Amino acid sequence: MTRIGFGIDVGGSGVKGARVDLDTGEFIGERIKILTPKPATPDAVADTILQIVRAAEWEGPVGITIPSVVHGQRALTAANIDPTWVDTDVQELFTRHLGDREISVINDADAAGIAEVMFGDEQSRSGAVIFLTFGTGIGSAFLVNGTLFPNTEIGHLIIDGIEAEHFASSAVKEREELGYGKWAKRVTAVLREYERLFWPDLFVVGGGISRKHEKWVPRLECNTPVIPAQLRNTAGIVGAAMAVEQGLKP
Ligand code: BGC
Repeated sequence: MTRIGFGIDVGGSGVKGARVDLDTGEFIGERIKILTPKPATPDAVADTILQIVRAAEWEGPVGITIPSVVHGQRALTAANIDPTWVDTDVQELFTRHLGDREISVINDADAAGIAEVMFGDEQSRSGAVIFLTFGTGIGSAFLVNGTLFPNTEIGHLIIDGIEAEHFASSAVKEREELGYGKWAKRVTAVLREYERLFWPDLFVVGGGISRKHEKWVPRLECNTPVIPAQLRNTAGIVGAAMAVEQGLKP
């Protein structure tokens, strides 16, 4: 029997959801996307999620990612989302909107990390792995032999007086019109600092820009091997569905 779950990924531009085959990490049927409401307050986003779940005619458990620290199922930070998320009880919020069903809420990078390790490159399944997503910010997930240490927020690590994500996210690359060479130098500086502090066995780099990995990953100069993520933009949804199936409620 196929194990099927449902994941929702809340991003800055879209809220996306799909049924997920939990044995293969593949979507079953269409991915449904609705533009992120503006302002993206907790109630507005929760209502958007309800629309997606209804459109999919899904009545089971739902896993949800948000770009925030999720501790004790409360959202605690809001670096790139509406500030009203801070201190929101996300279990209460989503149960109120989605009704009585199993719900897990997890940080977006943590979700992508667990999905990548399960369904991506086999190398990431063992050892100490730092998974990073380069987008509006820099998200991170720490995994040891596939097990997540949640809510590592090393995109906010201050390196040479500036937060890593304000220096080397892919949004910064665009904003400052940096070529891949210049940007790879910045990413190198960030990875070297992570190396110096955490000594991982492997970096896995994801986010939209990992689609063009051949333009920048070979230019990175650090001692730890770096491989591109394989799951691309399905990772958040797949990880969200995995989280609720595993009862992961950071
Ligand atoms: C947030 C993280 C998030 C990352 C990627 C950062 O600004 O603090 O929680 O995982 O962006 O969205």
